[in-house]
Amino acid sequence: MEQHGLKITRLSPAHSGAMSALHQSGFASGWSREAIETLLGSAHCVGLGAFGPELFGFLLLSLVADEAEILTLVVTPKHRRRGIARALLEQAIITAKASGAASLFLEVSTENTAATALYTTLGFEETGRRPGYYQSENGADAVVMVLRF
Ligand SMILES: CC(C)(COP(=O)(O)OP(=O)(O)OC[C@H]1O[C@@H](n2cnc3c(N)ncnc32)[C@H](O)[C@@H]1OP(=O)(O)O)[C@@H](O)C(=O)NCCC(=O)NCCS
Repeated sequence: MEQHGLKITRLSPAHSGAMSALHQSGFASGWSREAIETLLGSAHCVGLGAFGPELFGFLLLSLVADEAEILTLVVTPKHRRRGIARALLEQAIITAKASGAASLFLEVSTENTAATALYTTLGFEETGRRPGYYQSENGADAVVMVLRF
């Protein structure tokens, strides 16, 4: 898929080094290349990357039975607020629907106002909370959000 000069394509384990570097630019405890490689190697995990031409952002999507879940999403700081995360999520929604999922879940910290605003504009709604879930953020709660198809 091509949008605003960005190309969104499926990622393979060969991309895990670039994905890990990008993840570490977005999170205090970014994921290692090995962790990402293992996830991408599993049958139920799909990686979607936005290239312009380097990797500007990616998400990992888990597809199990009729439930889909965004495992992580990150956009390189230099290229934020250009609609990259929105484009990735729109493609994830298409992919999840095509796989037969009935809903798409994700977790977001109560401290993460940018991501919460993004998910809300796409129609996600709060469905639960996990108190003290994010130890790296002084025990911030996780909000569980869902988009039902
Ligand atoms: C959250 C994140 C993925 C957003 O990526 P992005 O490509 O900048 O997001 P988009 O440009 O697609 O934003 C789409 C909409 O989300 C909302 N949004 C995004 N960033 C925002 C911010 N900093 N403040 C307020 N609203 C924001 C806006 O509604 C925005 O639309 P607009 O630009 O037309 O106002 C990015 O900030 C990031 O990588 N953060 C660090 C990692 C992270 O928190 N990941 C999510 C974990 S749950």
